[in-house]
Order: sequence, then C-alpha cells, then structure tokens
Amino acid sequence: MSATILITGGAGFIGSHVVRLFVKEYPEAQIVNLDSLTYAGNLENLKDVEREDNYRFIKADICDAQKTLELFEEVRPSHVIHLAAESHVDRSITNPTTFVMTNVIGTTNLLNAAKHIWSDGKGVFHHVSTDEVYGSLGATGLFTESTPYDPRSPYSASKAASDHLVRAYANTFDMDVRITNCSNNYGPNQFPEKLIPLFINNIKHKKALPVYGDGLYTRDWLYVEDHAEAIRQVLFKGKSGETYNIGGHNEWKNINLIELLCDVMDDKLGRQQDESRQLITFIKDRPGHDRRYAIDASKIEREIGWKPSLTFQEGLVKTVEWYLAQEEWLDQVTSGNYMQYYTNQYAKA
Ligand code: NAD
Ligand code: TYD
Repeated sequence: MSATILITGGAGFIGSHVVRLFVKEYPEAQIVNLDSLTYAGNLENLKDVEREDNYRFIKADICDAQKTLELFEEVRPSHVIHLAAESHVDRSITNPTTFVMTNVIGTTNLLNAAKHIWSDGKGVFHHVSTDEVYGSLGATGLFTESTPYDPRSPYSASKAASDHLVRAYANTFDMDVRITNCSNNYGPNQFPEKLIPLFINNIKHKKALPVYGDGLYTRDWLYVEDHAEAIRQVLFKGKSGETYNIGGHNEWKNINLIELLCDVMDDKLGRQQDESRQLITFIKDRPGHDRRYAIDASKIEREIGWKPSLTFQEGLVKTVEWYLAQEEWLDQVTSGNYMQYYTNQYAKA
C-alpha cells in the first residue's frame, strides 16, 4: 500500500501501539508520527520501530496552526489518525485551558490543514475519541453511537467539542472522516497517572493506593492492542462519516479491579496473600466524578467484524509483567516532574 499515514500523538500510550501496528503491518506505506512530546509523550515507547525505513518522527505542536499547515503541505498524508490530546481527567480539573488548546484548537488546526491539502476531496481523517463524551450512566444501560452527548469534565467536554468539529467539517466541507469512541484502555506504556499503572507503581513501592470516594465507580476496560486493531479496521473498513463505539464488554467497579490487581501483583512479586490489599486507602472523591461508563460495541462487531482478543485476566497479567520488566521505563517517567504532580494531586486528599 503506497499510503502516507500521519499519526498524531504517536509517542503517547495508545498512539505508540497504533504506530507500531501500522509500521509492522504496512511496510509499503510511510508512517509519520507527529507529536510535541508533552509529559505523556515518550520516544522510548517506540524504540523497536524507530529505525524502520517506513517510519518517521516529527516533533511539532498541533496548537501551532502555521507549522501544522506547513507539515501537511510537506508530508501530504493520505490518511490522518488523530490521537494527540491532553488525556487525563484529573489534570483537566486543575488546568482546563490546556485541554481546550490541544483538544479543541489543535484538532481544528489539523482539520484545517487536512481540508487545505485535500481540496480535491481525497484523504481520510480518523478522529480517536472517548466514551466519556456520553456522560455518566446509572446502574444499567450502555452507551450506543446514538446516545446524546453529555460531557461532564473539562476533558470530556474538550473531546466532545473536537468530535463535533470533525462532524461539522465532514458535513460542511465534504471531508471523509470517521470517529471512534473507546472505553478505558490499559496495557504497556500507559503513563502512571491513570488508575492501573499508577497503582502498579505504588504497589511495587509499597505506597498507599488512593481510591477516590467509595470506590464503587465503574469503568469498561479494553487492552490497548485491541483498541489499536479496532482503529486499523475502522480506518480501512469503516464508512465515511460514521461513528463506531469500541469497548471490551468488561465492566469493573474500581475497588474490585484494584483488589484483583493487588492479587496479581502479590503473585508476581512473591508477596504474601492479601499483602498489597492492605495499601488500599479511600481518599477524597474526584470533583464531578462520573459514576459509570459502559459501551455497547455491537456496531463495530457487526459491521466491521472486530472484537476484543484478550480476556481482562490475560490483559492484566501481561500489563503487570510488562511494568515489572520495564524498571528503567517506569523509573524514568516517575522521576522529575512526576513527583511534583503526585504531591499536588494526592498530598491534600
Ligand atoms: P496520552 O496522554 O498517553 O498521549 C497523548 C500524546 O499526545 C502524547 O504523546 C503527547 O505528547 C501528545 N500531545 C499532547 N498534546 C499535543 C500537542 N499539542 N501537539 C502534538 N502532540 C501532543 O494519551 P492516550 O491515553 O494515548 O490517548 C490517546 C487518544 O485516545 C486521546 O485522544 C484520548 O482522548 C483517546 N482515548 C484515550 C483513552 C484512554 O483510556 N487512555 C480511551 C479512549 C480514548
Ligand atoms: P482514570 O484512569 O483516571 O480514567 P478515567 O477517569 O478517564 O476513567 O480513572 C479510572 C477510575 O479510577 C476513575 O473512576 C477514577 C479512579 N481513580 C482512583 O480511584 N484513584 C486514582 O488515583 C485514579 C488516578 C483514578
């Protein structure tokens, strides 16, 4: 395939898995990773592909409209997979403006640049988004593609705005777009600010496990490589203008997930049974905390033929094994600014 596939945010958690998949699967294509390398971007995530002939990295900020336009003129991508974003809800509570800048303005800059070079109508823009745009569920029900948007955090509001802009550009400028809204991801390379890697790191160092509120909040977890594969399939098999929800049919209340994680860690570290569970500490709740997310993924399964490949147990064991084997990676990302973030986020809880 002689495509040029521009992946934004390719040095981040999900982006690095998407880049790796495309570099390996499409040797004839050019895979260009555009990333500004914020605290969440890390080229160590791509060590195994950085020397491949079909891979190129460009350090650039999508908030810079002129630079983004110039890069599109130079690279002339046939496909864009847009993952660059500010992605952590807690940080969006402390600093909402950064989220509006990258997620809303940055996405608009990319859309403008794509519209500019695709004035002949060619090119596909795949926008990667979250189920959090649909708001918060009660004890029952699932998010479908027609669930009304009801974002409730600055993060989800900024992602909802970006989804709307993508649809507006498709409608107004006849652009070929697709949007995927995925549930919570977990797996290797996730920055240890999100629940699973943060707790793995804390268990490893025998630090308290800060559970927000009553711990009965529910998330629907998907292994990151299954998400990357879903993106690949939607990019090539999805219909123009369509939205596809992606999820693992894998709902867990936080406290139950944390207990399972403690048990897997105790097993892998050769600790006493229940040792890590003693670290669980209930702390002040996150403001505006969404109670439950759960995805109805039947559309992507029916129309595209995608489904998750791993059970949660399998994915969690793989994840724990990866973090325990990657001491250097974990030490590197948790040094410096991370400690400052950790103190600010958890000291007063
Ligand atoms: P991440 O925070 O790990 O990575 C984001 C990447 O974007 C980093 O490499 C960062 O350097 C880059 N970036 C940030 N601002 C940028 C800018 N202004 N210009 C260029 N690059 C910039 O995020 P993630 O968890 O990998 O999420 C990727 C995408 O998937 C996001 O759009 C997110 O909303 C979406 N998503 C995430 C999840 C999840 O559970 N993590 C679930 C569903 C959807
Ligand atoms: P997170 O990984 O931040 O993802 P999101 O908020 O986007 O779903 O959090 C997952 C769940 O874990 C969420 O209900 C908040 C909770 N949580 C804690 O209880 N303690 C923590 O330290 C973190 C980071 C999250």
